[in-house]
Amino acid sequence: MNQSLPSLGRISKAVIPAAGLGTRFLPATKATPKEMLPVVDKPAIQYVVEEAVAAGLSDVLMITGRNKRPLEDHFDRNYELEEALSRKGDDERLSKVQESSDLATMHYVRQGAPRGLGHAVLCAAPHVGEQPFAVLLGDDLIDPRDPLLSRMVEVQEREGGSVIALMEVEPSQIHLYGCAAVEATVDSDVVKVTDLVEKPDAGEAPSNYAIIGRYVLDPAVFGMLRETEPGRGGEIQLTDALQKLASDEKIGGPVHGVVFKGRRYDTGDRGDYLRAIVRLACEREDLGPDFRAWLRRYVSEEM
Ligand code: UTP
Repeated sequence: MNQSLPSLGRISKAVIPAAGLGTRFLPATKATPKEMLPVVDKPAIQYVVEEAVAAGLSDVLMITGRNKRPLEDHFDRNYELEEALSRKGDDERLSKVQESSDLATMHYVRQGAPRGLGHAVLCAAPHVGEQPFAVLLGDDLIDPRDPLLSRMVEVQEREGGSVIALMEVEPSQIHLYGCAAVEATVDSDVVKVTDLVEKPDAGEAPSNYAIIGRYVLDPAVFGMLRETEPGRGGEIQLTDALQKLASDEKIGGPVHGVVFKGRRYDTGDRGDYLRAIVRLACEREDLGPDFRAWLRRYVSEEM
């Protein structure tokens, strides 16, 4: 257990757990990782890596598992394709191919067996060391125009400890999320987290603040994860370890929440995935005008 002062310092490492089985998206995810499903013309995971880089975190560790090779290939060079495009003088497509391999310094570690999000985060311990670090869930897409992670990094650097992302949801939906009991702070978008419960029944939820897939964590979380027994579904839950941090500030400093009011899509959920594509396609300069016109006609004539 880390009884020392909470670690402060510039955060540079991002951890992206992407070793889940993606069962909600079968059969598409039988042989393809759900993080590789395209959102318009980029795989969902690329938006997540771009978000980490935009928040100043260019050292990215991805936690992968079986069937996840395409993730590594996507962030690597593809010499054959690059050469073919450059022979044709197709610079526009060439730069699209190179974009993902030039984005960040990528590292990979395999989880072995999908024993839960908490276990996936624990796999990052040797790489992360003793510094605070960010965790971005690979299937959670935050609209690039609504910066969340950079605000969380700012709060962590000011307050120390850990910072989680929260979003208000309908009470009927809270059983799908981890849920936080909170106290207000002087900042309207920041709360102090006093307790956490994983997927509570509606009547037992301490609030309607749901935990969403962005975290900035004190490394003391690793010690808590090592002590955490498998919880719901036999998986080691990250929320259970964070609950221990929130209940005793001496372990790894305070836990704060940044309340996010922007656009977020769970691309591991089929409905949300479709909404993400329609919304982002409508707003694209190249595709948007034609697509919006078609969508308007479709809605008025065929629905
Ligand atoms: P999910 O709860 O979405 O689970 O994981 P899942 O297995 O990916 O998808 P479904 O529910 O079967 O469709 C939340 C995040 O935690 C990662 C996932 O990759 C996802 O980013 N995760 C989950 C791991 O990395 N390892 C695990 O053992 C479990």
